[in-house]
Amino acid sequence: MPKPTTVRDYIRTIPDFPHEGILFRDVTTLFADPRGFRMAIDQMLHPYAGLNIDKVVGLEARGFILGGAIAHQLSVGFVPIRKKGKLPGKTLSQDYKLEYGEATVEIHDDVISEGESILLVDDLLATGGTAEAGIKLVEKLGGNILSCAFIVDLPDLGGRKRLEGMGMDVHALCT
Ligand code: PRP
Ligand code: ADE
Repeated sequence: MPKPTTVRDYIRTIPDFPHEGILFRDVTTLFADPRGFRMAIDQMLHPYAGLNIDKVVGLEARGFILGGAIAHQLSVGFVPIRKKGKLPGKTLSQDYKLEYGEATVEIHDDVISEGESILLVDDLLATGGTAEAGIKLVEKLGGNILSCAFIVDLPDLGGRKRLEGMGMDVHALCT
Protein backbone atom coordinates (compact mmCIF):
# COMPACT_ATOMS: atom_id res chain seq x y z
CA MET A 1 0.00 0.00 0.00
CA PRO A 2 1.40 3.46 -0.90
CA LYS A 3 2.00 5.86 2.02
CA PRO A 4 -1.01 8.12 2.63
CA THR A 5 -0.29 11.73 1.67
CA THR A 6 -3.69 13.46 1.75
CA VAL A 7 -6.52 13.45 4.30
CA ARG A 8 -8.58 11.39 1.87
CA ASP A 9 -5.87 8.69 1.74
CA TYR A 10 -6.30 8.05 5.50
CA ILE A 11 -10.08 7.41 5.29
CA ARG A 12 -11.24 3.86 4.72
CA THR A 13 -14.53 2.67 3.26
CA ILE A 14 -16.44 -0.17 4.90
CA PRO A 15 -19.25 -1.65 2.80
CA ASP A 16 -22.64 -2.56 4.29
CA PHE A 17 -22.20 -0.69 7.60
CA PRO A 18 -24.38 -0.05 9.55
CA HIS A 19 -26.85 -1.44 6.98
CA GLU A 20 -26.63 -3.27 3.67
CA GLY A 21 -25.97 -0.90 0.78
CA ILE A 22 -24.29 1.85 2.86
CA LEU A 23 -20.65 2.59 2.03
CA PHE A 24 -19.44 3.80 5.42
CA ARG A 25 -16.62 6.36 5.24
CA ASP A 26 -14.59 5.57 8.34
CA VAL A 27 -12.45 8.44 9.65
CA THR A 28 -11.12 6.53 12.69
CA THR A 29 -8.11 5.51 10.58
CA LEU A 30 -7.42 9.21 9.98
CA PHE A 31 -7.82 10.02 13.70
CA ALA A 32 -5.46 7.17 14.67
CA ASP A 33 -2.57 8.54 12.62
CA PRO A 34 -0.70 11.47 14.23
CA ARG A 35 0.19 13.08 10.91
CA GLY A 36 -3.27 12.48 9.44
CA PHE A 37 -5.09 13.84 12.50
CA ARG A 38 -2.96 17.00 12.67
CA MET A 39 -3.35 17.54 8.92
CA ALA A 40 -7.14 17.26 9.22
CA ILE A 41 -7.37 19.73 12.14
CA ASP A 42 -5.00 22.22 10.47
CA GLN A 43 -6.89 22.04 7.17
CA MET A 44 -10.29 22.37 8.84
CA LEU A 45 -9.08 25.53 10.61
CA HIS A 46 -7.47 27.08 7.54
CA PRO A 47 -10.56 28.90 6.10
CA TYR A 48 -11.20 30.63 9.43
CA ALA A 49 -7.81 32.29 10.02
CA GLY A 50 -8.38 35.79 11.39
CA LEU A 51 -12.15 35.34 11.81
CA ASN A 52 -13.89 35.73 15.15
CA ILE A 53 -15.22 32.43 16.53
CA ASP A 54 -16.74 32.44 20.02
CA LYS A 55 -17.51 28.72 20.35
CA VAL A 56 -17.17 25.43 18.52
CA VAL A 57 -20.23 23.17 18.48
CA GLY A 58 -19.54 19.49 17.75
CA LEU A 59 -22.04 16.84 16.66
CA GLU A 60 -21.95 13.42 18.32
CA ALA A 61 -19.87 11.40 18.02
CA ARG A 62 -16.93 12.15 15.73
CA GLY A 63 -17.70 15.86 15.79
CA PHE A 64 -16.60 15.76 19.45
CA ILE A 65 -13.12 14.54 18.55
CA LEU A 66 -12.66 17.13 15.81
CA GLY A 67 -14.49 19.94 17.58
CA GLY A 68 -12.52 19.46 20.80
CA ALA A 69 -9.19 19.69 18.97
CA ILE A 70 -10.36 22.72 16.95
CA ALA A 71 -11.71 24.54 20.03
CA HIS A 72 -8.42 23.91 21.86
CA GLN A 73 -6.47 25.29 18.91
CA LEU A 74 -8.69 28.41 18.82
CA SER A 75 -8.69 28.76 22.64
CA VAL A 76 -12.50 28.88 22.68
CA GLY A 77 -15.15 26.79 24.40
CA PHE A 78 -16.62 23.56 23.06
CA VAL A 79 -20.33 22.69 23.12
CA PRO A 80 -21.57 19.14 22.43
CA ILE A 81 -24.79 18.34 20.58
CA ARG A 82 -25.73 14.86 21.76
CA LYS A 83 -28.17 12.13 20.87
CA LYS A 84 -31.38 12.25 22.91
CA GLY A 85 -31.19 11.47 26.63
CA LYS A 86 -27.44 11.91 27.18
CA LEU A 87 -27.17 15.51 28.41
CA PRO A 88 -27.89 15.95 32.14
CA GLY A 89 -29.10 19.57 32.20
CA LYS A 90 -32.11 21.32 30.68
CA THR A 91 -32.06 20.81 26.91
CA LEU A 92 -33.61 21.84 23.60
CA SER A 93 -34.38 18.94 21.21
CA GLN A 94 -34.56 18.60 17.46
CA ASP A 95 -35.75 15.58 15.43
CA TYR A 96 -34.10 14.77 12.10
CA LYS A 97 -33.81 12.10 9.38
CA LEU A 98 -30.59 10.22 8.59
CA GLU A 99 -29.31 8.42 5.48
CA TYR A 100 -30.22 5.30 7.43
CA GLY A 101 -32.88 6.15 10.01
CA GLU A 102 -34.28 8.83 12.29
CA ALA A 103 -32.95 10.41 15.47
CA THR A 104 -33.20 13.31 17.91
CA VAL A 105 -30.35 15.54 19.03
CA GLU A 106 -30.15 17.84 22.05
CA ILE A 107 -28.17 20.80 23.35
CA HIS A 108 -28.00 22.30 26.82
CA ASP A 109 -30.17 25.41 26.78
CA ASP A 110 -27.65 27.66 28.57
CA VAL A 111 -24.42 27.12 26.63
CA ILE A 112 -24.67 29.73 23.87
CA SER A 113 -25.34 33.44 24.32
CA GLU A 114 -27.30 35.67 21.95
CA GLY A 115 -25.14 36.75 18.99
CA GLU A 116 -22.22 34.38 19.60
CA SER A 117 -20.31 33.34 16.48
CA ILE A 118 -20.38 29.55 16.17
CA LEU A 119 -18.36 27.06 14.14
CA LEU A 120 -20.33 23.82 13.69
CA VAL A 121 -18.14 20.72 13.28
CA ASP A 122 -18.74 17.13 12.23
CA ASP A 123 -16.80 14.42 10.41
CA LEU A 124 -19.15 13.91 7.49
CA LEU A 125 -21.94 15.62 5.56
CA ALA A 126 -24.38 13.18 3.90
CA THR A 127 -28.04 14.26 3.64
CA GLY A 128 -27.33 17.23 5.92
CA GLY A 129 -30.10 16.19 8.32
CA THR A 130 -27.80 16.03 11.34
CA ALA A 131 -26.12 19.35 10.58
CA GLU A 132 -29.46 21.03 9.90
CA ALA A 133 -30.74 19.83 13.28
CA GLY A 134 -27.58 21.21 14.91
CA ILE A 135 -27.95 24.55 13.13
CA LYS A 136 -31.57 24.84 14.27
CA LEU A 137 -30.59 24.18 17.91
CA VAL A 138 -27.80 26.77 17.82
CA GLU A 139 -30.07 29.33 16.18
CA LYS A 140 -32.87 28.69 18.71
CA LEU A 141 -30.37 29.71 21.40
CA GLY A 142 -29.52 32.92 19.51
CA GLY A 143 -26.16 31.82 18.11
CA ASN A 144 -24.98 32.82 14.62
CA ILE A 145 -23.46 29.98 12.60
CA LEU A 146 -20.32 31.41 11.03
CA SER A 147 -19.64 28.20 9.11
CA CYS A 148 -20.04 24.42 9.06
CA ALA A 149 -16.83 22.36 8.80
CA PHE A 150 -16.57 18.70 7.79
CA ILE A 151 -13.88 16.29 6.70
CA VAL A 152 -16.03 14.49 4.11
CA ASP A 153 -18.85 15.76 1.90
CA LEU A 154 -20.91 13.09 0.09
CA PRO A 155 -22.33 15.36 -2.65
CA ASP A 156 -24.73 12.77 -4.09
CA LEU A 157 -26.70 12.88 -0.82
CA GLY A 158 -27.33 16.62 -1.15
CA GLY A 159 -26.18 17.87 2.25
CA ARG A 160 -24.08 20.75 0.97
CA LYS A 161 -26.94 22.06 -1.24
CA ARG A 162 -29.34 21.72 1.67
CA LEU A 163 -27.12 23.72 4.03
CA GLU A 164 -26.17 26.31 1.40
CA GLY A 165 -29.90 26.67 0.69
CA MET A 166 -30.26 27.70 4.34
CA GLY A 167 -27.62 30.40 3.75
CA MET A 168 -24.81 28.44 5.41
CA ASP A 169 -21.11 28.62 4.60
CA VAL A 170 -19.88 25.02 4.18
CA HIS A 171 -16.32 23.69 4.10
CA ALA A 172 -15.22 20.08 3.60
CA LEU A 173 -11.74 18.66 3.08
CA CYS A 174 -12.75 16.03 0.55
CA THR A 175 -15.66 14.58 -1.39
C1 PRP B 1 -22.89 10.25 10.88
C2 PRP B 1 -21.91 11.38 10.72
C3 PRP B 1 -22.79 12.60 10.77
C4 PRP B 1 -24.06 12.11 10.12
C5 PRP B 1 -24.16 12.63 8.71
O1 PRP B 1 -23.20 10.11 12.23
O2 PRP B 1 -20.93 11.37 11.74
O3 PRP B 1 -23.03 13.03 12.09
O4 PRP B 1 -24.01 10.69 10.11
O5 PRP B 1 -25.32 12.20 8.08
P1 PRP B 1 -26.43 13.21 7.53
O6 PRP B 1 -25.70 14.33 6.83
O7 PRP B 1 -27.24 12.38 6.58
O8 PRP B 1 -27.24 13.69 8.68
P2 PRP B 1 -24.19 8.97 12.75
O9 PRP B 1 -25.58 9.44 12.63
O10 PRP B 1 -23.80 7.70 12.07
O11 PRP B 1 -23.92 8.92 14.30
P3 PRP B 1 -22.63 8.64 15.20
O12 PRP B 1 -21.65 9.75 14.90
O13 PRP B 1 -23.16 8.74 16.60
O14 PRP B 1 -22.08 7.30 14.84
N1 ADE C 1 -23.28 9.11 7.89
C1 ADE C 1 -24.24 9.07 6.96
N2 ADE C 1 -23.82 8.42 5.88
C2 ADE C 1 -22.54 8.01 6.14
C3 ADE C 1 -21.57 7.31 5.42
N3 ADE C 1 -21.82 6.85 4.19
N4 ADE C 1 -20.37 7.07 5.98
C4 ADE C 1 -20.14 7.54 7.23
N5 ADE C 1 -21.01 8.21 7.97
C5 ADE C 1 -22.21 8.45 7.42
